Amino acid sequence: MSSRNCSVTRKGTVAMLVDLHKHYLKLGLNYDELTDAALPVDQGSTTGKYNSLTVLTKIGFICSLIALIIDLGGLKLLLGIRCFVPHNYFTWEATRPLSDCSFCSNVTQAIELSNNITRNEFEPYAYSSMPIVIRGAFLHWPAMETFNYQYFKELYARMDPVYSSTESECQFLHFKSNFVALKDVFNMSKSRVENAKGEKSWYVGWENCYAEVQQELKKHFPIPHFLPEDAEIPNNAYVFMGYDEGASLHLDFINRLMWQAQLRGSKIWQLRPPPECQNTCTPLSFEVHPGDAVLVDTRVWYHATTIPEGQLSISLHLVYG
Ligand SMILES: [Fe+2]
Repeated sequence: MSSRNCSVTRKGTVAMLVDLHKHYLKLGLNYDELTDAALPVDQGSTTGKYNSLTVLTKIGFICSLIALIIDLGGLKLLLGIRCFVPHNYFTWEATRPLSDCSFCSNVTQAIELSNNITRNEFEPYAYSSMPIVIRGAFLHWPAMETFNYQYFKELYARMDPVYSSTESECQFLHFKSNFVALKDVFNMSKSRVENAKGEKSWYVGWENCYAEVQQELKKHFPIPHFLPEDAEIPNNAYVFMGYDEGASLHLDFINRLMWQAQLRGSKIWQLRPPPECQNTCTPLSFEVHPGDAVLVDTRVWYHATTIPEGQLSISLHLVYG
């Protein structure tokens, strides 16, 4: 998830980004198609087999995009833009090692565990790649009440303005929303915050990488009681918030396993095995609700999320290992 290699965005980058988008849209392409082009399988295929025409089309698209980027002076641009698209995603995807399909061969649904599971009972699952949901694990967290849009808006208003600006060191994920930085999220109209009829839907995620912010957030939730005692849990929690369509299908190129707390609203997770495991593993999906814990090895399971209509989803995302 994290891409800490992004350089600091400078003035003029936004204008260049707009130019890039215009050219990009002239091609009739969108982010989904870019993501889809990165995946070595036709996600719409009912057979799950590679289609040579599709592969050639995707290769052609990627080459066209690279040529376009270079034509716009975009190589420099892309390296300077914070997380427009994770700029090494294609490299990661193209060079990732093939999965040992044993991680998914007998998995047809997420494992559901009780919220009173002990650390010892959780031990066999702790470092597995099995999708796990622990119902109601975090219902006792103060964050269940305190973490909402207004809380984060006021928190960042108290902090250094850089923390939420395009100059921030923290990763900002706008997904399909038309935001450039976290400050844009906190400046939207009340009706858009509430996803009122006629307003453009939004869904964003951001990393909280500043110690000052982290110290404040940690007042509202403890370390999950079931995680291994010796597990390292970096402090840079991500918050994901918004409506409707969440993250498109992707892998996370990270070093650790992730855990996520669903704090408000519900979220539907869709998992797909990697293409090389399609003959032995099956896609699956599950829905989580406020208070639930989610543990997915997002490094090997392709995953996408959607929010049920009319709900605002807020989740907290950290890694461990
Ligand atoms: Fe992810």
